[in-house]
Amino acid sequence: MRPRVILKLATSLDGRIATATGESQWITGPEARLQGHRLRATHDAILVGVETVLADDPELTVRLPDYAGTHPLRVVLDSRLRTPATAKVASGNTLIFTTAQPHPIGQAEVVAVAPNDGRPAISAVLDALAARNIGSILIEGGGRVAASFIQAGAVDAIEWFRAPMLLGGEGRPCIASLALAKLAHAPKFRRLGVEPVGDDLWERYARA
Ligand SMILES: NC(=O)c1ccc[n+]([C@@H]2O[C@H](COP(=O)([O-])OP(=O)(O)OC[C@H]3O[C@@H](n4cnc5c(N)ncnc54)[C@H](OP(=O)(O)O)[C@@H]3O)[C@@H](O)[C@H]2O)c1
Repeated sequence: MRPRVILKLATSLDGRIATATGESQWITGPEARLQGHRLRATHDAILVGVETVLADDPELTVRLPDYAGTHPLRVVLDSRLRTPATAKVASGNTLIFTTAQPHPIGQAEVVAVAPNDGRPAISAVLDALAARNIGSILIEGGGRVAASFIQAGAVDAIEWFRAPMLLGGEGRPCIASLALAKLAHAPKFRRLGVEPVGDDLWERYARA
């Protein structure tokens, strides 16, 4: 069975995840970030694109006080294997999906999958994760990877943390191009709930 896919967004009010120069830490406040760690603890894998690894060098671990559970598998989509061996995610418990000839990067496992436009095809990534008994994946950005999952019709739910700041049109969008010509083709979601977390708002959506 294909894993359940949850898209986690931490954005400005106008849906930006970083400034034009790529600065993103931190848009949301400590309470929202804590909730983000609680979300991580409830999923089998956390997935990001290689640009997020290069920009932020994220650890992608569960950092909660007194947490004694397991850490989700870390997954990176990286067609050309640009993930540095010194990246935090290269320290193990990580799977890198590529379309290039695989070679080890640090302690990370590198796996080649079928391409779509030269990049790991989302369907192939989901099949490979399902084969490893991954039941749920939290997508943590960036905008291009989020757009690929949306375009593949693979996003089942959205956990959206929205901070009361504006970053403007030059900021990096939380969802990159979907190449939509018609409103009728826009992916639609149903709101499940809204609650304040610190100064931010946490909106939860399921696929309509
Ligand atoms: N606010 C937040 O919480 C937050 C969270 C995450 C990221 N960010 C910010 O977002 C920015 C990075 O976002 P981004 O949109 O530029 O990049 P991204 O989505 O992190 O990574 C995109 C890259 O992933 C690779 N990729 C491999 N397979 C792919 C596929 N099937 N679909 C799409 N991409 C695929 C591509 O590079 P190759 O062609 O080389 O494979 C692509 O350029 C950074 O500035 C980061 O700080 C913010």
